[in-house]
Amino acid sequence: MRLAIVIMAAGKGTRLKSKRPKVLHKIGGKALVEHVIHAATQIVPPQDVYVVVGHQAGAVQAAVTGTGVHFVTQSEQRGTGHAVQTARQAVAAYEHIIVLSGDVPLLQPETIARLRDFHLAERAAMSILTACPSDPHGYGRVIRRAPGAAEVAAIVEQKALTPEQKTIPEINSGIYAFATTTLFQLINELRTDNAHGEYYLTDMADVLVQEGQRVVAIEAESSTEVLGANTLAEMADLDAAMRLTTARKLMAQGVTIYRPETTVIDAGVRVGPDTIIEPFVQLLGETHIGEDCHIRSYSVIENSTIENHVLIQNHCVIDNAHIRSSAQLGPYARLRPGSDIGEEAHIGNFVETKKMRIGKGSKANHLSYLGDAEIGSGVNIGAGTITCNYDGVNKHRTLIEDKVFVGSDTTLVAPIVIGEGSYIAAGSCITEDVPPDALALGRARQTTKPDWARSHRSKR
Ligand code: UD1
Ligand code: CA
Repeated sequence: MRLAIVIMAAGKGTRLKSKRPKVLHKIGGKALVEHVIHAATQIVPPQDVYVVVGHQAGAVQAAVTGTGVHFVTQSEQRGTGHAVQTARQAVAAYEHIIVLSGDVPLLQPETIARLRDFHLAERAAMSILTACPSDPHGYGRVIRRAPGAAEVAAIVEQKALTPEQKTIPEINSGIYAFATTTLFQLINELRTDNAHGEYYLTDMADVLVQEGQRVVAIEAESSTEVLGANTLAEMADLDAAMRLTTARKLMAQGVTIYRPETTVIDAGVRVGPDTIIEPFVQLLGETHIGEDCHIRSYSVIENSTIENHVLIQNHCVIDNAHIRSSAQLGPYARLRPGSDIGEEAHIGNFVETKKMRIGKGSKANHLSYLGDAEIGSGVNIGAGTITCNYDGVNKHRTLIEDKVFVGSDTTLVAPIVIGEGSYIAAGSCITEDVPPDALALGRARQTTKPDWARSHRSKR
């Protein structure tokens, strides 16, 4: 049996009041359409997935190129029925199609498979996935032939509901399976005599029933899974639902999350057992955290790897960095892309790092900028140390070898090499390489004038 999946993603999303197309809005760190494509490609290979694009088609396509799916262009968005009509050429050769909505992002592959199996077992022309959410307002309602029957008579859109129909709890999820030949034989019967003047795919239920075709419905096991995102408020609800699912999955794997409703954890995040995540932490992108770590409140970690036994104090910002085992960061550390923090190293408050490596057990505990630097192990970077890496035109590297002691308030003018075991006196501006085991001083000699202050005061 040949099966294709059509994803309707051409709409503007007028109700969002946004310049960005609806399906590119993100929940759980990924665009709506990415979630839907991900679920679809668990059921059929990407070359059997057809995404209908229209409003800002280029942007939508660009966001999901590389997934291997096909695109169909619906230049004018004349409704969901018209979206499927547009895909006719592309999918006519498949026996059956499953139609998904690009704005129903929580849908799980198991549910698509259940709809497919039900559709085939029922030998139906159209099978509708339904749900009974706590608030059905805004959705189309499914009118069954008789209470409890699999057969459907019609789908009625919210705006066309009679007062009596408004009490029907069962909604249309916007997800369907169709027998392709029958669908395309009758799809031209759709009319636009409705509130929006559009071709409604939902009207196919009535069209098919009128022609004596079998239309059936199956209720999803979870009504949350089929919730649609038409407004930014609904988007926030789905985002919260998705993140809570991610947090619960991590908790089931032994991760302690004190207040999961306050954390923002993307689906690609992995965390090892016995790690503790405090309230208001954000773990984004492909962040991987090991075992026995402690991530304190208000830290934001993106696309970074954190090994085991790492302590991240409050308010750290970590982006594309690698933190090795038993290191300690923060509070208020800022690790920019390319930072590699060695085992047992300490990066303290108001220390900024970028494109740098610091070795095992080294410490930069206070108020520093360390960029384009290679720092060995057992190094002490005094408070206020700055690598002057930029001359206004080019960036230059600083190399600090093992066991160097850099006194406080030192400026290291790159390119520069500080040899192993050497000392830099506090307050130095170092412009020349320092050999191993030397002491370098680069500051004005102190002048002290005895009794100056006393005589100064007596002049008042
Ligand atoms: C639709 C259903 C409604 C159902 C709800 C479930 C219709 C007429 N109504 O309503 O019964 O309860 O979904 O979420 O289908 N799209 C296109 N081309 C178009 C129009 C829409 O590709 O010309 C896409 C949109 O981008 C969107 C999807 O189709 O991803 C659904 O469209 P939307 O306007 O959100 O339909 P609803 O009003 O939510
Ligand atoms: Ca919708």
